[in-house]
Amino acid sequence: MPLIKWDNSFSVNVAEIDGQHQKLVSLINSLDDAMRQGRGKEVLDKTIAELINYAATHFQTEEKYFEQFGYPEKDEHKREHGYFVQKVSAFKKEMDERRLGLTIEVMNFLSHWLTNHIKGTDKKYSQFFNEKGLK
Ligand SMILES: [Fe+2]
Repeated sequence: MPLIKWDNSFSVNVAEIDGQHQKLVSLINSLDDAMRQGRGKEVLDKTIAELINYAATHFQTEEKYFEQFGYPEKDEHKREHGYFVQKVSAFKKEMDERRLGLTIEVMNFLSHWLTNHIKGTDKKYSQFFNEKGLK
């Protein structure tokens, strides 16, 4: 069972961004599978690094459109991205220092943050972007 199951309630009505969100969901699900299957530290480290890199790419995409179209809620939105980057980097650091294993609590944080962010904060830009012709 995937930790997060994508359905249409996740759609922000912008094809490129939906595609990136699906990839983030799939990376979090892979990480959860790897943890549950008791995969080695190498696999977990590799997957978490991939998640951090991809999240950065994705946030850059959204933030590029915020600037391009003058999205009024950009500062607040960018702060949420910053919070996620900071939390996940802190997890990675603790894991690297072997002070923390990947736990259900970490996985729950990742899945809840992403789900709430997409369905709450991201969905607020759908209409704005669509009106600017971004679909
Ligand atoms: Fe976002």
